[in-house]
Amino acid sequence: MAEFKSIGVIGAGQMGNGIAHVFAQSGYPVLMQDITEAFAAKGVATIDKNLQRGVDKGKMTADEKAAVLGRIRTTTSLEDLAACDLVIEAATEKWEIKKQIFETLDKVCRPGAILASNTSSISITKLAAVTKRPDAFIGMHFMNPVPVMQLIEIIRGLATSEATFEAVMELSKKLGKTPIACNDFPGFVSNRVLLPMINEAIYALYEGVASVESIDGIMKLGMNHPMGPLTLADFIGLDTCLFILNVLHEGLGDPKYRPCPLLIKYVDAGWLGKKSGRGFYDYSKA
Ligand code: CAA
Repeated sequence: MAEFKSIGVIGAGQMGNGIAHVFAQSGYPVLMQDITEAFAAKGVATIDKNLQRGVDKGKMTADEKAAVLGRIRTTTSLEDLAACDLVIEAATEKWEIKKQIFETLDKVCRPGAILASNTSSISITKLAAVTKRPDAFIGMHFMNPVPVMQLIEIIRGLATSEATFEAVMELSKKLGKTPIACNDFPGFVSNRVLLPMINEAIYALYEGVASVESIDGIMKLGMNHPMGPLTLADFIGLDTCLFILNVLHEGLGDPKYRPCPLLIKYVDAGWLGKKSGRGFYDYSKA
């Protein structure tokens, strides 16, 4: 079985820094790459802030926090990932960017190193095909916020080998997470089910069925969801929601996945949810 001594993470954003956080917290040395030093430093600052939550609640000592941070190094060069046994890509959800990253990683990483993508909806099979190691390629879809959420959705590409699958399942359990497997189809399972629900909530708003607060309140209290669907859409990012809906719509060809015009309008306006300060709710004063 593959042994994982050092882990590479591509992207220091919301998902990338969360992934680096959980690996470092489980004792793995992590090299986190982003395109600028400022992006990488912002990612480390977020990890620092999130670890501090544990220190403040007495769940972790300041020394333990320092040790976790000490296991994370950063770089701006993909070539530096050469020594990693597993590299997880969590860069922007753009095909061209991911394609370039995996072409480079495939050249610099040793044969046998596993390449994984945290993509929320781009085909794992198609990404694997840009490398010469589609057997050692897999989807590891972490949920946001990564340090809190239990699930890792493990996606087998068409050519993913049993050895790669078993090694990644085993590793995911060592992180204290629960890996659950599925096959590679648009949106996998998580977003194939979640996004139509969010889209329907937006249609309900668009058609005047209820207010933002009522839609969220009904779903939160009525279904025991931790967040209402419109709060969750803001949390995920409305641009990301639209992107995933388009992948479902184009990939499956069924009009039931068509994105609500109100979602498109918000994204056009730059109302991207929590990260832009405005979505279905106003975060500008938060
Ligand atoms: N890092 C570390 N810890 C965090 C954290 C973070 N970013 N965010 C929250 N926490 C911790 C808090 O410190 C707190 O810890 P304790 O239990 O030890 O006190 C705990 O998580 C709960 O947080 P809060 O008390 O602040 O708030 P909450 O109870 O309202 O929970 C939440 C916040 C965990 C985000 C919860 O609202 C929730 O589960 N929401 C739904 C999240 C969800 O559905 N995620 C999936 C999104 S879809 C996706 O990611 C896939 C995709 O492709 C789009």
